[in-house]
Amino acid sequence: MANLWILLAVVAVQAALYRPCESLWCNCTTAQCEKNGSRCETDGACMASTSAIDGQEQHIRICITRDNLVPPGQPFYCLGAEGLLNIHCCYTDYCNSIDLKVPSVTTPSGLGGGWGLVELVAVIAGPLFLLCLLLLVGLFLYQYHQRAYNHRQRLEVEDPSCDHLYLAKDRTLQDLIYDLSTSGSGSGLPLFVQRTVARTIVLQEIIGKGRFGEVWRGRWRGGDVAVKIFSSREERSWFREAEIYQTIMLRHENILGFIAADNKDNGTWTQLWLVSDYHEHGSLFDYLNHYSVTTEVMIKLALSAASGLAHLHMEILGTQGKPGIAHRDLKSKNILVKKNLNCAIADLGLAVRHDSASDTIDIAPNQRVGTKRYMAPEVLDETINMRHFDSFKCADIYALGLVYWEIARRCNSGGIHEEYQLPYYDLVPSDPSIEEMRKVVCDQKLRPNIPNWWQSYEALRVMGKIMRECWYANGAARLTALRIKKTLSQLSIQEDIKV
Ligand SMILES: *[C@@H]1O[C@H](CO)[C@@H](O)[C@H](O)[C@H]1NC(C)=O
Ligand SMILES: *[C@@H]1O[C@H](CO)[C@@H](O)[C@H](O)[C@H]1NC(C)=O
Repeated sequence: MANLWILLAVVAVQAALYRPCESLWCNCTTAQCEKNGSRCETDGACMASTSAIDGQEQHIRICITRDNLVPPGQPFYCLGAEGLLNIHCCYTDYCNSIDLKVPSVTTPSGLGGGWGLVELVAVIAGPLFLLCLLLLVGLFLYQYHQRAYNHRQRLEVEDPSCDHLYLAKDRTLQDLIYDLSTSGSGSGLPLFVQRTVARTIVLQEIIGKGRFGEVWRGRWRGGDVAVKIFSSREERSWFREAEIYQTIMLRHENILGFIAADNKDNGTWTQLWLVSDYHEHGSLFDYLNHYSVTTEVMIKLALSAASGLAHLHMEILGTQGKPGIAHRDLKSKNILVKKNLNCAIADLGLAVRHDSASDTIDIAPNQRVGTKRYMAPEVLDETINMRHFDSFKCADIYALGLVYWEIARRCNSGGIHEEYQLPYYDLVPSDPSIEEMRKVVCDQKLRPNIPNWWQSYEALRVMGKIMRECWYANGAARLTALRIKKTLSQLSIQEDIKV
């Protein structure tokens, strides 16, 4: 690139000295020219030269045609004067009228005279060559430096020998996930493996769209994975979700299994990927829309969701411990249904972590995030105590109660089940505003309807009781996820359900 600029500069200077296309008159010493008044017309250059033939000094002046200029248009020197030593070419009328001195042996370049071909080439090309050489050396040093730096960077995160270990050709997604659940760190695959995996996924079909971007089904070594692709302006969401998923010891069978995060820079924009397990049933919302559920499935779904949330909320102390995490956007669309009809809690992008040592929350939580329909009363009226981490857990429990209501309505007991509906479907319009929700939930203190007939079926009766205790206006009075988990475990034993 730099070389090109130098070449352009040289051309520009040459072009300034040279007047192309216009013809000019020159003094001419050839016999033919004498008839024309010792002058000639040319489209090229006038040339003067001196030579000492037989010790006799001779001035030679001639016209040089355009095609004898080398290179054409931007002459470094002019041809057509073979055998002449001391050559001066110029580009104005009669400019070759000057008298050149005979070159002396000691100063072949001829002081005050034109330069010969070799000298001219040497003078022009020499510095140019040196400059190019310097540039090349500079470029080489820069690249070497850069490579050494990159290499050092890579050494910190990447160890190719490990890459091998994790990603040997015959290893499948199952092996990888097994590694994940047993790997010592408890926080997921090493970053370089994540990157390698992400970059060898083949996207298959789009399976969802959201405010952050798109979700795709992808294939990796014969297995399906889900790929959440964030638009570039959602980089912060991408980073935050990847960060939360890689919380130490987060992995749990009822929390969406995270596989990899990758930011691919393709030159024009950055592709932000989150790769996770793929669950063909999709979200709990989709599942309940399509199918009614048996009592057994209802308890399975509810218990597994409670287990996931309990694990998320729980703080585990010790070096291999995990901080308490509050989800803050729990809803049926953010819970996935696994093949075994257990839930996996997903979409941790808005989650907050609790640092119990300093009793602080790891990001400054803004007041009202999440989905308005599922916002707890204290979130809607902004009375939530954001300095207190447990407040966020209580808000999650309120939302879990709503999800339970969605599930229980679809429970097929004694041949009755209701159509799928979102919570508060009968009280607020679709896509309700905060104000609309606040009126219903805080002012009128309304909650989704729990039908009386649920009392006749033990499982539905227990579910209804749990919901009520999730929906208290006072967050602190609500059940904990662990409490709900225990109640539902008992229920499942009672109902003789293998979970
Ligand atoms: C002399 O000049 C005439 C007209 O300008 C031109 O046609 C002719 O070629 C010239 N002769 C030489 C030898 O340059
Ligand atoms: C060059 O030509 C010009 C115009 O014809 C003339 O005045 C001048 O004396 C010439 N010079 C030489 C050195 O012949």
